[in-house]
Amino acid sequence: MQHKKKRVEKTSRRGFLGQALTAAGTAIAAPSLLNQATTAKDASQSNPGEMNVKLTVNGKQQTLDLEPRVTLLDALRDRLGLVGSKKGCDHGQCGACTVLIDGQRVYSCLALAVMQEGKAIITIEGLAKGDTLHPVQAAFIDNDGFQCGYCTPGQICASVALLDEVKQGCASVVTPDLARPPQLAELSEAEIKERLSGNLCRCSAYNGIVAAVQQATGQKVPSPAATVMVNEPQETPV
Ligand code: FES
Ligand code: FES
Repeated sequence: MQHKKKRVEKTSRRGFLGQALTAAGTAIAAPSLLNQATTAKDASQSNPGEMNVKLTVNGKQQTLDLEPRVTLLDALRDRLGLVGSKKGCDHGQCGACTVLIDGQRVYSCLALAVMQEGKAIITIEGLAKGDTLHPVQAAFIDNDGFQCGYCTPGQICASVALLDEVKQGCASVVTPDLARPPQLAELSEAEIKERLSGNLCRCSAYNGIVAAVQQATGQKVPSPAATVMVNEPQETPV
């Protein structure tokens, strides 16, 4: 202990400054050395933590390097530029991100992209055939099924899936007789509303959306404007 103290006392002021500057220089140089090491590692092993994933989107195969935590919605929007599917809540609560996977509607914000290999993914961009709109898309236009349009891609994808579900004989919670699920021609307004209840529209274009689905089922649709007028409470004379 005594010996150590003597050595410290022997350090001159000039020597101390020299040592301090050397230490500071090392500290400054260290990050740049670290950066060089990291860059060298990156060059030899690009995208650490990512997986090579093949997705079939709207009939085209896409190959992406993705981290396993990337959602299908982020992969579609940020990596493939398919921004039709919208990020409303990112929590599975609004339906704006709805896409079709193997014909079934899925909230793409809750689906991991790496789990979709080998499946057929259809987004709103893949519904039309060239310049010909999908009948549900055309029905949304005919019936003013949207206002701001933000929820519309999800509503349309959900409606397309809804029609297939009815064709396959799926019942819903409001189906009166589970042994006799409704046919498209007799699908009631209550059934349509229930079956689309997972898709929210902030501007309340619901009348038009229901009418659009009715049109797509082949039913005769009253114009949404007419429905609103019919349903408006009449003023009672005083
Ligand atoms: S963004 Fe997916 S449910 Fe809202
Ligand atoms: S049309 Fe605006 S949120 Fe649905």
